[in-house]
Amino acid sequence: MKRQPKTTKRAATMWGGRFRKPPHPLMQQINASIAVDVRLYAQDIAVSQAHARMLAKQKLISATECRKICAALARIQREFAQGEIALNPALEDIHTHIEARLYALIGETAGKLQTARSRNDQVATGFRLYLRDALEGLRAKLASLQRVLAQRAETHAALVMPGFTHLQIAQPVSYGHYLLAYVEMLARDHARLQDAAERLNESPLGAGALAGSSLPIDPAQTAKALGFRRACANSMDAVAARDFALEALSAASICAMHLSRLAEEIVLFASPGFGFFTLPDSLSTGSSLMPQKRNPDAAELVRAKTGRIYGDLIALLTVMKALPLTYAKDMQEDKETCFDALDTLALCLDMMTAMMAELEPNAARMAAMAAQDGSTATELADWLVRKGEPFRRAHEAVGRLVQEAERRKCRLDELPLAAMQAQIPQLTEDARRGLK
Ligand code: ARG
Repeated sequence: MKRQPKTTKRAATMWGGRFRKPPHPLMQQINASIAVDVRLYAQDIAVSQAHARMLAKQKLISATECRKICAALARIQREFAQGEIALNPALEDIHTHIEARLYALIGETAGKLQTARSRNDQVATGFRLYLRDALEGLRAKLASLQRVLAQRAETHAALVMPGFTHLQIAQPVSYGHYLLAYVEMLARDHARLQDAAERLNESPLGAGALAGSSLPIDPAQTAKALGFRRACANSMDAVAARDFALEALSAASICAMHLSRLAEEIVLFASPGFGFFTLPDSLSTGSSLMPQKRNPDAAELVRAKTGRIYGDLIALLTVMKALPLTYAKDMQEDKETCFDALDTLALCLDMMTAMMAELEPNAARMAAMAAQDGSTATELADWLVRKGEPFRRAHEAVGRLVQEAERRKCRLDELPLAAMQAQIPQLTEDARRGLK
């Protein structure tokens, strides 16, 4: 048998049969995606192996050819894992890298793998497989953060802290109550990521470039082999859709927003004005100029990275918004946005988990601020309601007490009983003590 051409030559002529001139150097630079999509090597190989087995079962290739292709693909996977495959921008993307290597290993048989297949359905399938795993990984990280928050909430169930509205002291709450608010937000994030993973779990393989194939392929078979719920129903949608990636980015953005609110509160509550937390040494940074500084850089970066994740969502929404069906090369930009956003979210989740596990609340500072600014005034109004007052009247009466305290420049609970009773005759010493 004739020796096979060198891998690079094979790739350069993959679609180059109809061109006379080689590509412009800038063409390669703008077109190549290998630096980004090399991450998909294992998924691309899994897709190719499933495709080869389906082709054999449908008698489109022989069992021997199938075995040869699958064994070579397994070898290529090991080579990628061990970093033995040099990335070559001339080879464009992960699919062509693997194809070129397959040619180098098994010669013309490699060409049979491309039967009834295009990179369009191939990349959509591999990318969905990648996202399915990545979303599962994020769900595990979310669950760890929830666990830490719930443990801390249990430990500090009785610790009083001020609750805020408009960032003004509103009513006292417990630190446990506060932490569990985030557990709820993260539970919804978890459900959103799961939802996105379930919806994307359909296989585009078999859609070919856009129109499927007239060969007797069986997309249901590859869908099953790759663990998809089913094959995509419409081949044009299968290669053109990226809403699955956008859903992952949206869910990631909302989750990042939640982490950013928590991060913002860490920055705020660790500042001297609040003093609710002392940041752990291991998670703060000092200043090169001011020796006394202890800066909340980790929380600030979680807050900032949220902007990047939103940016990734907006970037892909914008890429997709005016694309005529079906595939366009614009869509190659989908992976960089998702990889960046999901990597960033994973890091932020880990960081917040470490942070919340170590953050020790300062009970005295929390309690002192919780008692300020008449934060228990609502309790007093509720006391009057229990005595039969309509809430609106109770609210007004306590409002007069607040005014009186302001006039005397004292706290609400420091008003003498007689001064209180001048406004609210039925008020007792017991109710007054309840303000503390
Ligand atoms: N690297 C391409 C991407 O990620 C693969 C699909 C290319 N398809 C094509 N017809 N040029 O979108």
